[in-house]
Amino acid sequence: MTKSTGQAINPKYILRWWAEAGVDVAIDDEPHDRFAEPPPAASAPPARLPTASAPAAAAQTRAAPRIEQAASSSPDEAVRSARELTARAASLDELRDALEKFEGCGLKATATQLVFSDGAPDARVMLVGEAPGGDEDRIGKPFVGRAGQLLDRMLAAIGLDRSKVYIANVVPWRPPGNRTPTLQETAICLPFIQRQIELVDPDLLVCLGASSAQTLLGVKDGITRARGKWFEYKSGERTIQALAMLHPAYLLRQPAQKRLAWRDLRALASALAERPPRS
Ligand code: URA
Repeated sequence: MTKSTGQAINPKYILRWWAEAGVDVAIDDEPHDRFAEPPPAASAPPARLPTASAPAAAAQTRAAPRIEQAASSSPDEAVRSARELTARAASLDELRDALEKFEGCGLKATATQLVFSDGAPDARVMLVGEAPGGDEDRIGKPFVGRAGQLLDRMLAAIGLDRSKVYIANVVPWRPPGNRTPTLQETAICLPFIQRQIELVDPDLLVCLGASSAQTLLGVKDGITRARGKWFEYKSGERTIQALAMLHPAYLLRQPAQKRLAWRDLRALASALAERPPRS
């Protein structure tokens, strides 16, 4: 590539420019000049994934990323299918299998793998974050990057660790470039996290960050106002006490706010101590 001056631009800088713009996932081997392609005919059938019985179609659609399959069902259909699948999942293993097979969320196409959970399924405390980041996407477990390491230290400060808590995210696939999941992606994934909470059935729920608190607790205020407050989360027949907390990734950027997180952790520890474990 050359600048208008005719000078070559080092591809390293172009890559860095794309990465900083949030483009960090290659979804095809070859670049496509979409502007040079004719617009699709109005009556053209929607793109389909290649099937074993249609090798010619496979060759034709090789350039079409998997994301098109997810996009071919409407968001309403995806939510309906998510609800049906989750209603049938009688255990966390079945829920995980259902998510592995679910094709209704486009994020699955760009993520490396599903990031389902970490920790103890019989834990009294369940923490829910927003969505996996790059480290989580690579390793397949929630909160294993820098924010996760801070979360581990925060839990250790009140005598907890991953053998005593259960951790998941509202959205179980990494959004490209670590962007915030869209409202539509969140709505599609919501039945899964709701069922996950129901199956874990914790005594206390902790929503980490604005996205989790808004989605699960209906918080309208910003997280800096909602943090430290207790909410009631309805889960099946039960009402679970839920605490909104600052996200550890935010605390990495705003270390002065750790004093607020410490206050919330102490409230969590007291709530846990006050409640006898359910038999
Ligand atoms: N941030 C989240 O919300 N979840 C993770 O798993 C990691 C970072």
